[in-house]
Amino acid sequence: MSQIYTLEKKEQNQSIPSNSKGSLRGFFSYIKDDKTKLIIVIGFIFINSAANTISPFLISKAIDKYIAVGNINGLLNIIYILAGVAAITVITGYMQGMLIGRISQRTLYRLKEALFAKLQSLPIAFFNQNKAGDLMSRINNDTDKINQFLSQWIGQFVGVMFSLIGIIGFSLYLNWKLSLVMMSMVVFIYLVTQFFSSTIRKKNRENLEVNSDFASSLQENLTNFKVVAAYGKREYLENHLDKTNNATFKSALSSGFANRVFEPTYEFFGAIALILVLSYGFHLVSIGDATVGMVIAFVAYTQRFYDPMKTLATAFGAIQLATAAWVRLQDIFSLENNLRTDSIGGDKTGKPKLRLELKNVSFSYDDKKMIIENANLSFEPGKTYALVGPTGGGKSTLANIMAHLHDPTEGYVYLNGKDMITYSQEETAREISVILQDPILFTGTVAENILYANTDFKDMNIADLNRILEHKGFKDVIKRFENGLETQVKQNGAGLSIGQKQLISFMRAILREPKLLILDEATANIDTITEAVLNKTLEALPPETTKIIIAHRLNTIKEADEIMFVNGRHVTPAGSYDAAIEMIKGAKRSS
Ligand SMILES: Nc1ncnc2c1ncn2[C@@H]1O[C@H](COP(=O)(O)OP(=O)(O)OP(=O)(O)O)[C@@H](O)[C@H]1O
Ligand SMILES: [Mg+2]
Repeated sequence: MSQIYTLEKKEQNQSIPSNSKGSLRGFFSYIKDDKTKLIIVIGFIFINSAANTISPFLISKAIDKYIAVGNINGLLNIIYILAGVAAITVITGYMQGMLIGRISQRTLYRLKEALFAKLQSLPIAFFNQNKAGDLMSRINNDTDKINQFLSQWIGQFVGVMFSLIGIIGFSLYLNWKLSLVMMSMVVFIYLVTQFFSSTIRKKNRENLEVNSDFASSLQENLTNFKVVAAYGKREYLENHLDKTNNATFKSALSSGFANRVFEPTYEFFGAIALILVLSYGFHLVSIGDATVGMVIAFVAYTQRFYDPMKTLATAFGAIQLATAAWVRLQDIFSLENNLRTDSIGGDKTGKPKLRLELKNVSFSYDDKKMIIENANLSFEPGKTYALVGPTGGGKSTLANIMAHLHDPTEGYVYLNGKDMITYSQEETAREISVILQDPILFTGTVAENILYANTDFKDMNIADLNRILEHKGFKDVIKRFENGLETQVKQNGAGLSIGQKQLISFMRAILREPKLLILDEATANIDTITEAVLNKTLEALPPETTKIIIAHRLNTIKEADEIMFVNGRHVTPAGSYDAAIEMIKGAKRSS
């Protein structure tokens, strides 16, 4: 059965799955390589926090021991120590920031690399089912959230943790009763945090999804801008974008609000704690259970205890955002390529009787509507076959199955006598070349596009490539490009005519000398003179090459040994050229 690859939206009210901790562990595997740097950073953070927490303790000692008795030298010593502590704080703070920046950039790089590798491994079905914009948003936006978390928050988070431990330690050492009073408000903070956190998680996930929608919609409309302009639908586009943009804005507001709700709450409880510490502290001083220096230190500690709670709250928001983003990236990582390549043994060499064989092949894109039903077809080495049939009949789909770009939903495809599923994608690519109906080109030169994924010729220079292509009969074809093989191809092949794109794709396929060549409307947009040149290059291929040609222009298929008619789920051998013409006429009449 074919697999559904949609990156489904999680139910809006669904919180992050409980295994998100487990998947976060997966995330830390991307930082693993920087472990030493990470340990050094934690060391700096530790020193930094220690330096931060020790000052109130020193001040309390200065007040009680030296100021109270007028010991100037002792006081000066404490001031020197305090200055040293301040210097350490500045230096370690700087070092930690710099190192964390490096670690997060490298982690982000590794993460994106893994994402691209994953995307490359997925079958065409995945890209049919998902919008490019949504993918881009996941790759850019979601990884950015993770980067922010790493570069800004992880350090602060660890720092705050160390500081809190330090403060608790020093304050307990100074006076445990005052300590307990100082920390009493934590209970309330915990309750409030618990109360809001699931809402916040939900809002954050919603926000990322709405952002993705906006990116998809933008991408779709920009890619299709020609159509939008041709139909005078700019207004529609504006309204549409306006709507999604509005949704993005609202969701950002509400997620921003949710993330900020903690700050004032913590401030409030911090203030209450300070009042309690002061009242109880002076009470203790009056009964001789505490010193003035101690109470002053506690005022500083209370502030240093509740201020980082605010940082924690903000960090908590960033962690929530990063977790939501990570869960969305996990959606991609957890997809598995269902193009089965499991080996059932047997060697793939030897002279096959049949180049390609389809046995009881059925195919559906969505498991609902059948596009091909129970096709049984054989293709012999060295013969030329033609697939004809009405638009939307299923020719390209069949070609994709033959090229192992889709697995059949049911049935088997044998290549050189072996089940196609036992071939890896690289192996299939070596045996089969396919010229797709709408050629896919990459930014770069024409030469680079011709050599794309050609392992035999990958380091070839332009002069040599030129020579080989001319030898194969492409001399006049290369002239169709302004700067020959050095002509620049822009994004998505912009700046080239459809015919020129087909020529590149044609040269790319022929150069590989495949055993099986599939041409899906490969010459539909090429002038008849150039087409004749291309036909010559096809004839020059090794005699055992099997060619499968899909064409609407009937003169293209006159030379075919066998013609097959593809229409409404069924593939019927049509025999000769004349019989095929009759079948096409019949189909036109009945539709
Ligand atoms: N990615 C896809 N997802 C879902 N359905 C698809 C997809 N691609 C094609 N189809 C459907 O499959 C059917 C066959 O399409 P296909 O592209 O194979 O036809 P075709 O014979 O090559 O047509 P044409 O002559 O226009 O190139 C069509 O009804 C189309 O709607
Ligand atoms: Mg087609």
